[in-house]
Amino acid sequence: MHSNRSDFRSLTQEIERRVRWSPEYIEADRKLMWRPEFVKLLYTYLDIRPKMHVADIGSGTGFLARIVAPGIGRMGDIICIDHDTRLLARGVKATRKERFSKNLHMVQANAYNCPLPTSWADLVMCQFLLSNVKHPLSIIREMARVTKRRGLVAAVEPVGIQILFDPSHVRLTELQRKSWNAYVRGYRKLLGGDITIGLRLPHLFMEAGLSKVELDGYLETLLFSDPRYQGRDLATFLRTRFFERPSKRTKTKIASMIKDLTYSCGGMSPNEALRIQGKLADRLKPLVENTRSLKRSSFVFSVARVIVRGRKQ
Ligand SMILES: C[S@@+](CC[C@H](N)C(=O)[O-])C[C@H]1O[C@@H](n2cnc3c(N)ncnc32)[C@H](O)[C@@H]1O
Repeated sequence: MHSNRSDFRSLTQEIERRVRWSPEYIEADRKLMWRPEFVKLLYTYLDIRPKMHVADIGSGTGFLARIVAPGIGRMGDIICIDHDTRLLARGVKATRKERFSKNLHMVQANAYNCPLPTSWADLVMCQFLLSNVKHPLSIIREMARVTKRRGLVAAVEPVGIQILFDPSHVRLTELQRKSWNAYVRGYRKLLGGDITIGLRLPHLFMEAGLSKVELDGYLETLLFSDPRYQGRDLATFLRTRFFERPSKRTKTKIASMIKDLTYSCGGMSPNEALRIQGKLADRLKPLVENTRSLKRSSFVFSVARVIVRGRKQ
């Protein structure tokens, strides 16, 4: 019994080490998520001003930092922290041509132990980090340590509601919900991350000693035919989100093994999960292959997120 438990622990540790986010997916998803009107709101919520010192923890390619950078201007500084060098390198490439590139720095480090001085930042933010880690409270405390007195700690995180709604196949929506719930359960068991963390965050922020905690919701609603979205951007997003490129490369094989294990731990057989994904892929494929059909389609991809922030006393 004891050895089974320690075997499971070392397996999950090995899996954690190998979980890697695709830079293509991150860039495609965030581009659709942060439409200009939401960026204005984000600036208000995060109280963005020139000359600020900002840290983006678990920054990935630094998409959020790149949104904030123009607002803090040339006299400000943004430091992105992530442990994945591949994502950071992609971020460096994306910023190279920007005017703010000299003020944005990419640093490889662990979010639990940031190499930043205490009380350095006016704003310490993260996006989709706390939902992916085992000990979110420790990271919020670390974010608060780096923040100045009266500075802001902020997080953009999911509440666990997401669906691709196909108006001509409502049953598929139900099947997706079933597989999504299994994935959420499995992710928690296998990797210790809580993809539904959003509404729990105000409590965790208060536990970390932050005050004046504020919470706002953001329901992303990606209607494919909506003229504000480019067909090319939608197709890239769908390709990176719903289709794994068939490949014999070890990385891809490991990624799908981890997915299978996640569904199993959540109580759904990998075959059933695969069957549902297959059905979804069959519906999406003709759209991804033909941008005109995609832009005529009334499919809706929807995700609910929150933006939480609190002040350091
Ligand atoms: C879902 S991605 C979000 C990336 C980025 N914040 C965004 O929204 O585009 C989660 C990120 O957290 C990073 N991450 C997870 N655990 C970490 C840790 N302990 N230390 C540093 N980075 C971590 C991953 O490498 C990944 O880049």
